[in-house]
Amino acid sequence: MTDIDESVAATAGDTERYDMLIDGQWRTAADRATFDSINPFDGRAWAQVPLASTADVDDAVAAARRAFDDGPWSQSSPLQRATLLRKFGDLIRDNADELARIQVLENGKLIREVAGQTVALANHCYFFAGVAESPTGETLASSVPNMQVYTVREPIGVVAAITPWNSPLALLLWKLCPALAAGNTLVIKPSEVTPVSTLVLARLAQQAGFPDGVINVVTGAGPTGAALAAHPDVDKIAFTGSTAVGKKIAVTAAERLARVSLELGGKSPNIVFPDADLPNTVNGVIAGIFAASGQTCMAGSRVLVHRDIYDEFSKAFADKTAQIRLGNPLDPDTEMGTIASRSQFEKVLHYIEVAKEDGARLATGGARPTDPELSRGLFVQPTVFTHVTNDMRIAREEVFGPVAVVIAFADEDEAVRIANDTSFGLAAGVWTRDVARAHRMVKRLRAGSVWVNNYRKTNYVAPFGGFKESGLGRENGFHAIDEYTEVKTVWIDTGNTITDPFNPRA
Ligand code: NAI
Ligand code: MG
Repeated sequence: MTDIDESVAATAGDTERYDMLIDGQWRTAADRATFDSINPFDGRAWAQVPLASTADVDDAVAAARRAFDDGPWSQSSPLQRATLLRKFGDLIRDNADELARIQVLENGKLIREVAGQTVALANHCYFFAGVAESPTGETLASSVPNMQVYTVREPIGVVAAITPWNSPLALLLWKLCPALAAGNTLVIKPSEVTPVSTLVLARLAQQAGFPDGVINVVTGAGPTGAALAAHPDVDKIAFTGSTAVGKKIAVTAAERLARVSLELGGKSPNIVFPDADLPNTVNGVIAGIFAASGQTCMAGSRVLVHRDIYDEFSKAFADKTAQIRLGNPLDPDTEMGTIASRSQFEKVLHYIEVAKEDGARLATGGARPTDPELSRGLFVQPTVFTHVTNDMRIAREEVFGPVAVVIAFADEDEAVRIANDTSFGLAAGVWTRDVARAHRMVKRLRAGSVWVNNYRKTNYVAPFGGFKESGLGRENGFHAIDEYTEVKTVWIDTGNTITDPFNPRA
């Protein structure tokens, strides 16, 4: 272990023990209950974390409430918040190797993907440090005589951030940075699959100097998240995860009209036209679905291919997919890691069977790998199904694993119709050399992000979020601040004489 988590972790046998952060204190659960973090590559329970009960959630929310209402945080200046965010970014950069390694132990993602992503999180902090000091209100050109009218943006209050396991730190920072820049306090509930990376990140935030109670972390599974979302003192819930849980959270939030932003699932179309640069496109489509073993909300899981190139493209796609090297995710030469958890692994294998039963044609993959060295890991071969129609379950439901389906289309209109024929609307890709067609497609696709001749790019400057059942609200960029602030409108009279409205001549 490096110096960053010595005070968070203690070792019991070969299992590391971690505490959670409430009001600046590292604590066990009140009833001392714990659960394990399992490494999906070797099946080992490598870490133990507190299982927070409703009492622990109450403590964490109370701490966040005090820090918001009474603490120094509510009086902090934009410069103070920006300075803390910059320090936090520096600490993330300096400890990126350790943060990356822990995420790989938790979810089996490739070190070569996670390492770069983790260093880049520092830039996220630096950007939102700048945002903390950027103007947020507007002066209105009101025609009301003798009135100065302006708006200010104020923090919402206590934010619950409930996060998933696929990119535990990135998807947390998408919430944490704008929430802090705007002056909110937080209670974070990381996924039960990836609790440790969030605890270690919280240690860095504490080192950066955020006051006690501004950032709290409770670890636990669905019930802990549900208790947090239902807490009457939580003013806003920011959630990334499944559409099913996102809908439950929206219902819970509606009871008290808590603010809510949701980043949910997808079944994103990646559309290949015959005029595309084919070698480039094959590589882009492969990265779009198989990066992170397909466990991303924006995975390009429906590959729509023009029928003139359907056979040629499908063959090139399947051949290259069959060469992807599975292995230890900590080995920099490995090209695809494991599925993150046993339940997710079973879900992926189940969907492969559903696809076969529905008549999809298996072009490659479709099973666990046979290599004995991989037998203890939750590996699924990268899988391509061809001759899929958009009404099959494998084309309609999110798998969240390394499974691509290839669907044929005849022309632009049909491509648009199939692409938009989904309950989701997170992302879409278009591969073409025809610039006019690219613009037409961008306009017609119902999705929160559209990539042309690339796929799966995100950046802290660029808003990200979903149409339809892929979510509510936008993360990243200046739009993110809207999700963590209320607008206050201020009217200043600059010289009206106020007559008695009931007796104007008096
Ligand atoms: P999930 O939606 O159950 O979990 C996400 C987070 O919500 C976790 O922190 C979890 O503990 C928490 N949670 C679960 N039930 C809750 C409740 N009733 N109230 C409040 N919080 C609750 O996702 P899970 O079970 O990890 O994965 C299931 C499927 O969800 C995946 O197969 C995938 O399709 C989708 N998913 C989508 C993600 C995305 O990036 N949009 C990320 C993770 C999963
Ligand atoms: Mg779940």
